Amino acid sequence: VILDLTSARFLGSGVATVVVAPDPGKPQALQEPAGAARLARRLVTGCGGPTADAALSRSTLHALLDVFSVLGRHDSPGHDDYPLTRTGSSAPVIVHDEHVYPVTRWAARIVTAQEPAMTFGHHDAGAAYRALVAARHRAQGRPLVLASDGWCAGCLRPAPLAELSRAARRAGAHLVIDDSLAAGVLGADPSPDRPFGAGGCGTRPWLGAAGPAVVVASAAKAFGVPVATVLGPARLIAAVKQHGPSRMHTAAPGAADLALLTCAMAAGDLPDRRIRLAALVARVRAACRRVGWRVVGRPFPLVAVAGPAAPAQLHRRLGELGVRTLLVRAPCRGRSHLVMCLRADLTEDDLGHLEWAVPMAARRAA
Ligand SMILES: Cc1ncc(COP(=O)(O)O)c(C=O)c1O
Repeated sequence: VILDLTSARFLGSGVATVVVAPDPGKPQALQEPAGAARLARRLVTGCGGPTADAALSRSTLHALLDVFSVLGRHDSPGHDDYPLTRTGSSAPVIVHDEHVYPVTRWAARIVTAQEPAMTFGHHDAGAAYRALVAARHRAQGRPLVLASDGWCAGCLRPAPLAELSRAARRAGAHLVIDDSLAAGVLGADPSPDRPFGAGGCGTRPWLGAAGPAVVVASAAKAFGVPVATVLGPARLIAAVKQHGPSRMHTAAPGAADLALLTCAMAAGDLPDRRIRLAALVARVRAACRRVGWRVVGRPFPLVAVAGPAAPAQLHRRLGELGVRTLLVRAPCRGRSHLVMCLRADLTEDDLGHLEWAVPMAARRAA
């Protein structure tokens, strides 16, 4: 038996057969691909506030390039209706978490033409505010952007999004969140019966954090479909659609991917899958703790083990017992973890195999 725990298709969406017309072969700025408007509307109905809108992109890199570029042309937010004032400038000053996922760093580097990164201490909202104040002195009128992941893949904790939102607001900066890991999985109003919350709208509603923000998220994790979504104030989304460079110069999201995402998001049992996933996570964390392994961070479908045995040794032992895991270096913790990616479609047999393999691996590694 091989149990593969290296896939982040957290909600375990099943097989779908879709029939699609060929891609129009036009820049997205000229013509949105079929299905994009419907998906965006669905996202806004489910996750947006009264002034929100959504757009779809080929990937988070495309989406972040567009968002950062467009924010460079517009002055910082100050009101709920998110007025966008043309500044004439073309690159914002981007301040990001020092351990942000690499895609944000890449996009920042491209948009700012390799300007040295301005960072703040991991998950430290006070440091973020100070970095923004320092950046403002250097910015000479250029718009400011504060960027962070929603959920950190290294320490498996949420970023302090309410505090970051306050820091951005006080400093007159735009807040941009890459919520690729948590989107689709976490949602509003978590409770003991429903630890991942409802609706899958991500880390912000899960934390109950408010305030204006632009949220970029890949659907490649929860839904296994490589398309990114951008959710934010309607005026900003309109500007992204009109001026986003990826929408002129790179291919649009593929018709087949959009059709698959439509199917995946329309599945009626997503709430049950989130509840099942949370139960699986609790069970696997407990199995790891029973054998003395240290489990990292908050409950999430990535279960990371940091000790006491060497993660590389556990990774090898579990592999010999038919369980594929990931060995991940977590920059924010300065060390490696053994990571098991759990999915809602794991069967009782899969779990039984894992609960057999964990104590076996612990004994062999001792
Ligand atoms: C936090 C985060 N952002 C962005 C990405 C990249 O996503 P994609 O290339 O599917 O858009 C990933 C992929 O693992 C991720 O974990």
